[in-house]
Amino acid sequence: MKRIGALVLSAGILAGVPLAWGQHSGHIQHMEHMPPTASAPAAAGSSADAREFVRFPDALREHTLANMRDHLLALQQIQEALSRGQEDAAARIAEQRLGMSSLGLHEAHEVAKFMPEGMQAAGTEMHRSASRFAIEAQNTGVTSDLKPALDALSKVTAACVSCHAAYRLQ
Ligand code: HEC
Repeated sequence: MKRIGALVLSAGILAGVPLAWGQHSGHIQHMEHMPPTASAPAAAGSSADAREFVRFPDALREHTLANMRDHLLALQQIQEALSRGQEDAAARIAEQRLGMSSLGLHEAHEVAKFMPEGMQAAGTEMHRSASRFAIEAQNTGVTSDLKPALDALSKVTAACVSCHAAYRLQ
């Protein structure tokens, strides 16, 4: 009885609460239909490491790994901003640090020279999907539906996963 009361109350006052439940069950459903990109790295833990070695000049390697750590930080800050309802901030972080606008920041041309084609494609996919997420995050401000933004964010992470599954630095 108490629980139902709380339910009605939260449904009436906090539109975000039932929305969150919807996301949760949607997420579980989604897990059952994992895209192939997400299941590929399973092999990495089981047997020999099959990732392709890529050689970067030392300075570029250091620079790239520092960028990578910033990518992870950006993901954390995006999630935190979303949890606070700050979709515009989430969009800005994604676009500037991971999206198409970050290409200058990462000296993409300089780095791309040393990348095999598949690695370049994974990098491009990350930039594109981050920019798509930025748009979805901004849409959330209008629609109040966070699901498309979370889905778009999972595609950004999938781009990290697919590159990491295939390549390593020498
Ligand atoms: C185009 C390929 C590519 C993409 C896309 C990519 N990474 Fe990486 N990342 C690498 C490679 C290669 C390494 C080095 C792995 C190794 O040598 O074992 C790495 C390493 C890292 C590291 C370890 C850094 C260190 O100091 O050792 C982190 C953290 C990381 N990536 C986070 C991310 C995140 C988060 C994303 C997505 C937002 C991402 N990366 C997207 C290729 C990529």
